[in-house]
Amino acid sequence: MKGNIILIGFMGSGKTSVGRRLAKKSGMEFLDTDWEIEKEQQCKISEIFNKQGEAAFRDMETDLLKRLLNRQNNAVISVGGGLPVQEQNQEYLKKLGTVIYLKASEESLWNRLKNDTTRPLLQGGNGREKIHKLMEQREAIYEKTADRIIETDGFDPDGVAEVILNKILGSDRT
Ligand code: S3P
Repeated sequence: MKGNIILIGFMGSGKTSVGRRLAKKSGMEFLDTDWEIEKEQQCKISEIFNKQGEAAFRDMETDLLKRLLNRQNNAVISVGGGLPVQEQNQEYLKKLGTVIYLKASEESLWNRLKNDTTRPLLQGGNGREKIHKLMEQREAIYEKTADRIIETDGFDPDGVAEVILNKILGSDRT
């Protein structure tokens, strides 16, 4: 297993903001799979969904993950909320490093996502219900893929980064 720290969890769980802060505090490099894909494709995730469809985006995620496995070490990597859903990706994530699930209640996810316009899977219709349905499908996957679960409700991104830094990076990594 490689020495990366990988943050998984639902959209709006704070993976990117926590990851950025954790990387800064620990001196590790920071990478976000959505950003990497946007850079490579030179367009926004919502455009990829619109023009090429979700399946094409999922293939891009898996392809990127395989490449990260070959080249990336000692980085903090935040991954898109749907990336761990594909079974082969769960295997790759585990090989890539320590997987941390940033767990948040549906209530706090909804509060953070209700005005969002960038996530194609939540646009149109009843957003709260969409979160509920997706969480039903994904919660068990996040839990089984993770080495550690961090409850994030009540913490700001800085606080979550501190918890990871002290409880996980401080104790597990020698
Ligand atoms: C998705 C989550 C998004 C992005 C895409 C699909 C998902 O990333 O990859 O919109 O399926 O949950 P964030 O979790 O960073 O919002």
